[in-house]
Amino acid sequence: MTRIEEILQKDEFTKSELVELLKADGGDRKKIFEKAAAVKKQYVGNKVYFRGLIEFSNICAKNCYYCGIRSGNKKLTRYYVTEAEVLEAVKYAYENKYASLVIQAGERSNKKFTTTITNLLHKINELTNNEMGITLSLGEQSEETLIQWREAGARRYLLRIEASNPELYRKLHPDNKTHDYTTRLNALHLLRKTGYQVGTGVMIGLPFQTLDDLADDLLFFKEFDIDMAGMGPYIEHEDTPLYQYRHLLMSKKERFDLSLKMVALLRIMMKDINIAATTAMQTLDKMGREKAIKVGSNIIMPNLTPVKYRDSYLLYEDKPCIDEEASECKNCLEARIHISGDEIGYGEWGDSLHFKKRKK
Ligand code: 5AD
Ligand code: SF4
Ligand code: FES
Repeated sequence: MTRIEEILQKDEFTKSELVELLKADGGDRKKIFEKAAAVKKQYVGNKVYFRGLIEFSNICAKNCYYCGIRSGNKKLTRYYVTEAEVLEAVKYAYENKYASLVIQAGERSNKKFTTTITNLLHKINELTNNEMGITLSLGEQSEETLIQWREAGARRYLLRIEASNPELYRKLHPDNKTHDYTTRLNALHLLRKTGYQVGTGVMIGLPFQTLDDLADDLLFFKEFDIDMAGMGPYIEHEDTPLYQYRHLLMSKKERFDLSLKMVALLRIMMKDINIAATTAMQTLDKMGREKAIKVGSNIIMPNLTPVKYRDSYLLYEDKPCIDEEASECKNCLEARIHISGDEIGYGEWGDSLHFKKRKK
């Protein structure tokens, strides 16, 4: 038995074992993927669930060094999708049995914004008979706001920790009150407290990031006992401060391979959570999402943002699905998931099994 096979016989890994696993290649890497695929099959089955994604607004109060829609990027036209447009996208999702939605936007916490979201949630639920599983991805918010949105029908929340190492986090964000690691961590705890299914994640292949950091990220997810994860490769964007460090980056292929391994290892470590096959995976590899589904992902987020806004929501370079209408992405993903050997859980919420078990 090889060293990697020996490690894989266990379900709990130490940090140094995780680093070894993250370094594995060739036949060893294949072993990791095989184990992850088997765990996925046994614990969450072969269904992939759709979360129709509405990129509600690219207006953001923050200035993260890596992100294309940071407030400091003056080259962008800022937008918000109108209520009528959101409801039209929701109607499409509902009629096509997507069962779940994600509403994502730049981070804002003023009263006008939080109330707009609350009203939108009510309208969505009215339109869809409360049948949509709604996920929010709207950044750090107060407990009061989170409760308000929860009461208006949101059930899940995605808030990536981005990097669980506070020192790395600091290098990726301005050093000020609005970009504080401890505040972000507290925001994650608030999500748990207010009853959401909690999702988090990190970017992979960031400048200054080490394999030790990534091993710690995986242990952080486990320790926090997350319900959902969304991780993907870091992809540089020309109009961001981090772009100047692009010479430090791994090749795109290496970043993709490492991301795939992170998905597989997380599946082995946290067998019954929901793991997204992210758009960033697709950006670095034409078959990126299919590969992620094969080694552990069970969630995919077809884009429902009206096409006219799409090129204003470029968090990173070469983001796919900029011109494709919702129906084109639907057909495309159906084919891709079919190729992966999975099926789509149409009409099912596909809530995190991990969350359901903890609730019992
Ligand atoms: N590359 C990859 N992912 C990025 N995000 C933001 N900028 C980038 C980038 N350059 C991710 C962050 C954020 C999510 C909405 O998009 O992790 O949480
Ligand atoms: Fe705003 Fe999120 Fe981009 Fe940071 S990563 S600048 S919070 S949209
Ligand atoms: Fe949008 Fe393939 S998912 S075109």
